[in-house]
Amino acid sequence: MSSEVPLTVPMPGKPYPTVGLGTFTILGETGTEEELCNAVKVAISEGYRHIDCALAYGNEKGVGDAIKAKTDDGTITRNDLYITTKLWNTYHNPDHVKEAIKKSLRNLQTDYIDLYLMHRPFALKDGDDLFPKDSDGNMVFADHDYVDTWKAMEKLVKAGLTKAIGISNFNKEQTQRLLDSARIKPANIQIEVHPYFLNETLVNFCKQNGMTVTAYAPLANPGRTWKKAEDPVLFEEQILKDIATVKGKSVAQVVMRFLLQRGLVIIPKSITPARITENFQLFDFDLSASEMQKVSSLDRHLRLYWEDDGINHQHYPFTAEL
Ligand SMILES: NC(=O)c1ccc[n+]([C@@H]2O[C@H](COP(=O)([O-])OP(=O)(O)OC[C@H]3O[C@@H](n4cnc5c(N)ncnc54)[C@H](OP(=O)(O)O)[C@@H]3O)[C@@H](O)[C@H]2O)c1
Repeated sequence: MSSEVPLTVPMPGKPYPTVGLGTFTILGETGTEEELCNAVKVAISEGYRHIDCALAYGNEKGVGDAIKAKTDDGTITRNDLYITTKLWNTYHNPDHVKEAIKKSLRNLQTDYIDLYLMHRPFALKDGDDLFPKDSDGNMVFADHDYVDTWKAMEKLVKAGLTKAIGISNFNKEQTQRLLDSARIKPANIQIEVHPYFLNETLVNFCKQNGMTVTAYAPLANPGRTWKKAEDPVLFEEQILKDIATVKGKSVAQVVMRFLLQRGLVIIPKSITPARITENFQLFDFDLSASEMQKVSSLDRHLRLYWEDDGINHQHYPFTAEL
């Protein structure tokens, strides 16, 4: 059963596991560093071999501590694990890209990253203040072009600091522009995809261009702190509840299986041990074509992550949708 959903997909460096652990926490609100460190350890013990993190999440050190604990106790070797992290917008100056990955390497206590993503296409003011604001509280931008930043990322591959490079939160036109100029093509794009936001045009475009596509917020982040009263609640959808009952699975598992069967890599985040276990049990059931169609019918182009601190930047990616 389930032969159409592979456990890994090919990537430069080593195979990329199709299920990873997301680690985006708003520290103190949706998880402490200690809880996250524990979550990563639980995940590795449960068989996860892919961890998604980012310098901007402010928790790479906790992730690194967990990985060290699980390598020290012999559960895994570094080579067993696929680590993704991301170049933050305040390091888009090509002269600062290497310094940024070195910070991540120190935090994660490793000497290479498996996949290094440009977190967003727009640049913020150079420096270690990750969210630089002026006296009126507006974000301070920089005008580095993501094409130049990419060229500096290509050098990281040559230096052996990362095995693969990719992008996140780029739109189709920006992705095309990068493909046109890149010497090393982006191997992966990480974008928002869940049943309320299938993002089909961009997903198909990236796949046609040989990129793997990673769905972030695969569960439409039910714990998000910016939820609006009128937002639909994925876990309450009768379509999903009915399929879950028939399959003897949870709604979360049905949603994630749906994304895997669409050929996506998924990175559900949880700091709850029972959910971490549940979110990895996705390979012992299938959704039929008609069940896939029913889940697809929930799409309503509901973007949850607007990255709106960059809204006035020339390289803000979602202007066409505003
Ligand atoms: N590239 C980017 O710009 C970007 C943007 C957003 C996210 N991401 C990445 O994608 C990852 C996932 O996205 P996300 O964190 O926004 O959202 P998500 O994975 O869709 O949802 C996370 C939320 O779902 C809850 N949850 C997890 N498993 C569950 C289950 N089985 N049943 C019920 N609730 C469950 C978690 O609660 P508990 O933790 O309390 O268990 C948490 O509140 C992030 O962590 C990050 O690594 C990347």
